[in-house]
Amino acid sequence: MRDLAFCPPGSSVVVTGAGRGIGAATATRLAEEGIRVVACDLDGEAVEATCASITDAGGACVAVKADVTDQRDVEHIAEVAADSDRPVRGLVNNAAVGAFHMDVESTSLDDWNRIIATNLTSVFLMSKVCIPLIRAAGGGVIVNVSSIHAYATSPGVAPYAAAKGGVLTLTRTMALDLAPDNIRVMALIPGAVDTPMLRSHAEREGKTLEELGFPSSPNAIARIASPEELAGTISFLISRDATFMTGSALIADGGILAKF
Ligand SMILES: NC(=O)c1ccc[n+]([C@@H]2O[C@H](COP(=O)([O-])OP(=O)(O)OC[C@H]3O[C@@H](n4cnc5c(N)ncnc54)[C@H](O)[C@@H]3O)[C@@H](O)[C@H]2O)c1
Repeated sequence: MRDLAFCPPGSSVVVTGAGRGIGAATATRLAEEGIRVVACDLDGEAVEATCASITDAGGACVAVKADVTDQRDVEHIAEVAADSDRPVRGLVNNAAVGAFHMDVESTSLDDWNRIIATNLTSVFLMSKVCIPLIRAAGGGVIVNVSSIHAYATSPGVAPYAAAKGGVLTLTRTMALDLAPDNIRVMALIPGAVDTPMLRSHAEREGKTLEELGFPSSPNAIARIASPEELAGTISFLISRDATFMTGSALIADGGILAKF
């Protein structure tokens, strides 16, 4: 029988997009649970700040300024992750960019390629360098942060929705490829979460979150999520309590997708 795949206290977990939002909350939560966090972000100052607050609180964290679309940066992340006596048991592919007012006709090829690279190809690149580390540690967990847009979407988010759908299907095939290595792969499907991504979208539109339709239905949980709630769900997915879950998606959307 295979060992149980989870990320125990004392192991290392790589978290991308850890400078703010869900990534920062996840880095903080995992560090509180005794995990050494390898926190990466394009925004060097932000990820240093996340790490400083973790280490001030007694946690273990190393900050890496890196672009998850850049192969050399991604290889550097893996080198930093491996440079420790703590085995790398997990990867949270969280970094992404929001993209609105982009239907197929209005989206330039450059924008399409940039969004697909950041939101989908990064999951491929980061997984490619981290899988050997997790395998060498005896197994672990990869969590790919997708979105409700992988299931039900809205007008004007063509590259974002396509990328997030790709993250979901990539999760399934990775799970099948990696089960023999004792590596579980899960997708997380957040609904609306109160992060700079969502706030800056509202600012650009000159509207409140409520005016933009968040939360979308009084029949769903009538508020948007905090980043800490999603961090808690990620903590569950990499934990000993989720060891029979792989190749599937956990929807944490307050009930939005339950309604048609
Ligand atoms: N906020 C929501 O409502 C919501 C809903 C569904 C899914 N999500 C998903 O959750 C994840 C986190 O979103 P968030 O709301 O916390 O976003 P955010 O914009 O608040 O934070 C994203 C972080 O990723 C970093 N990042 C962006 N591009 C990068 C790159 N190329 N290399 C390294 N780092 C990069 C940013 O600097 C930023 O710190 C994303 O995958 C997003 O698509 C968010």
